[in-house]
Amino acid sequence: MGISCKDIDGGILFKLDTPNSTYMFRTADTDGFILHMYCGRRLSGTQVDDLCRIDEPPFLPSKNERERCSFMDCAPFEYPGHGLGDYRDDAFSVINKDGYFATSLSYRSHRIIKGKPGLKGLPATFGSEDECTTLEITAADDANGLEIILYYSVFEDCDALARSVKIRNIGPEGNDIKLTKVLSTCVEFYGGDYDTITLHGSWARERMMDREHLGLGRRSVSSLRGESSHQEHPFIALLDHDANEDHGDVYGFNFVYSGNFIAQAEKSQFDTVRVMLGINPVDFCWNLKPGEEFQAPEVISVYSGEGIGNMSRTFHDLYRKHLIRSKYRDCKRPILINNWEATYFDFDTDKLIAIARQASKLGIEMLVMDDGWFGHRNDDSNSLGDWFVNENKIKGGLKHLVEEVNKTGLKFGIWMEPEMISPDSELYRAHPDWAIRIPGRKPALSRAQLVLDLTRPEVVDHTFGQIEKILKSANIEYLKWDMNRQLTDLGSSMLGKEGQGELFHRYCLGVYELQERLVREFPDLLLENCSGGGARFDPGMLYYSPQIWTSDDMDPVMRLQIQQGTALMYPLSSMGAHVCDCPNHSTGRTTPFETRGYVALAGTFGYELDVTRIPEADRNMIPAQVAMYHSYNDLVRNGDYYRVASYQENHEWDCWEVVSKDRKEALVTIVNVLGRVNYKSRLVKLKGLDPEKTYSLRYYNIEKAGEDEEYLRLKGDALMYAGIKAAGNYHGDFRARLLHIREV
Ligand code: DGJ
Repeated sequence: MGISCKDIDGGILFKLDTPNSTYMFRTADTDGFILHMYCGRRLSGTQVDDLCRIDEPPFLPSKNERERCSFMDCAPFEYPGHGLGDYRDDAFSVINKDGYFATSLSYRSHRIIKGKPGLKGLPATFGSEDECTTLEITAADDANGLEIILYYSVFEDCDALARSVKIRNIGPEGNDIKLTKVLSTCVEFYGGDYDTITLHGSWARERMMDREHLGLGRRSVSSLRGESSHQEHPFIALLDHDANEDHGDVYGFNFVYSGNFIAQAEKSQFDTVRVMLGINPVDFCWNLKPGEEFQAPEVISVYSGEGIGNMSRTFHDLYRKHLIRSKYRDCKRPILINNWEATYFDFDTDKLIAIARQASKLGIEMLVMDDGWFGHRNDDSNSLGDWFVNENKIKGGLKHLVEEVNKTGLKFGIWMEPEMISPDSELYRAHPDWAIRIPGRKPALSRAQLVLDLTRPEVVDHTFGQIEKILKSANIEYLKWDMNRQLTDLGSSMLGKEGQGELFHRYCLGVYELQERLVREFPDLLLENCSGGGARFDPGMLYYSPQIWTSDDMDPVMRLQIQQGTALMYPLSSMGAHVCDCPNHSTGRTTPFETRGYVALAGTFGYELDVTRIPEADRNMIPAQVAMYHSYNDLVRNGDYYRVASYQENHEWDCWEVVSKDRKEALVTIVNVLGRVNYKSRLVKLKGLDPEKTYSLRYYNIEKAGEDEEYLRLKGDALMYAGIKAAGNYHGDFRARLLHIREV
């Protein structure tokens, strides 16, 4: 495992090994081209057929200069430049001091370092010297006076590679460069028949999986909304056309960034495929003066030789161990009750205390006060930025409320939307120039609000001061950080004529700075990021918060699809999931309380309803759900996740399984979304068990708040290869069961 390099004919070969994968590239020719060689299942040696085609026509330019252009247009570049004959999409481009766009890359030097350096101001995966090795390739673009540093980190315990890029202006005074595109990764694949998986959606319908056959041309997803977005996701997987959940080669790419992105696969005239991810170049233009450097965020790539499921499990392991930093990462989170769908803006101290009292009796552990407690906010038209408590609603103040809630035995959490400013706010009246907007244009409102210009240090400082004041004013143990509109009217009064192309990225850096200061100053705070539901559920935010609100849609049927798409790369421990009221506020659907609980159990688990007003039968079920959470959350949080059946694909039922790392235990959730006559049970072939072990099977019985007697005892091979007839008492729609399997 690790990174090795050796001299080969005409260059240096670099081999990057993880437990089950190999990534290889080489330098070649007098131009110092850096060419991709291989990415896939682990190779024992470094010898592969010359896939780079450097000995096939068109020869390297040093051997056949007259066909330089043909070479450029088919060579498998590790980090392709612009405008010199490679007509596929490029990874970086500039406007140089004389106005020219072209870029190129020539190898200069390299070094291999133990561990993984952090990325200044950016979220990134991490690992100790024993866990990671990093290769740093320094290349030059002499004509532009630039140095380009490519970073590759391999992990000893995961089949994952982290890549990022730094560009440094090493030119003389006056060498003012504008970076117009700096992507973070590029991988070339030779031939093959591939599909792509991407994620799409909207508000309340985030991360729906979409699989498509990759034809010639480009398949790309992107965001220009200033956040990773509800609509598309900074992720793309390239997989064998015949790969499925359990078999075949899959390459997953996820961008550790929360702003504008592009993720793209391009199939060329020669059937090669170039996959690239990075900051969306649209509206991006970064000024790089001599002596300055630009650090692009990182991309994680995961290889799985055992299908899509194994790719997901690798991402989960990597993110749980090498990305999430919070002390809550490995802990059971308090079961919270959030008042948003319970009350919306219509609440006061008494109502919240009544909810807390009732919740406490049922075993719920924290009350979260959502939107509407500050300024003069009774609807969404005002007060963002005025982070002082509305004493008309919160009579006696915040400290009093928190103390009263604590007296019921519950912890207290609060909602804030720190990045926003309402035109109807004291903050806006004092600082209208703090909003992002273009002079001379009326800025577009969304939810009646504007976005704070976090490129300005004084705005970041002020915002942090507001958060700090609130958090220190009472015993607040949890913060829900919301962000309810996308960016438009890109204009910053600080960045000037030359700097507006930096706004999107600088905004994102401002958010990261705020969250970094927050987690450093309040290391015991449980932070949950949120963005109008799940519009900023991305690895960038996971670096700061161990959990993210997955979607405003808590209907368990919609959640099957939303959670499946989210769990494609994010661990279950990170998915904010609550039991909702019924009929569901987004879909209008009525589902059993029991089913809502089983689906929320696949995430952080909590409640979002008025526990004083729901039907008694439902309320009576809460202690059993609480017990269920306490029994199984360690397994759900730490185990290996397997998709067994997908409602999104079969339109009838869903099933997933979490298996403990030692394979002694598993939890299977079966949701019969639509009843089917004469089909009272489903054939479930379990996954991930030890074929040699014998297991005992018990259903969770919500009425007993515990498990039924063992109903079946079978070996792992029989459970996996023959399967079981599961949950034989289905009748009706939306019925679900939980099956616990334990080694005997
Ligand atoms: C959007 C969030 O996703 C909701 O949970 C809630 O906090 C509202 N914003 C409040 O405005």
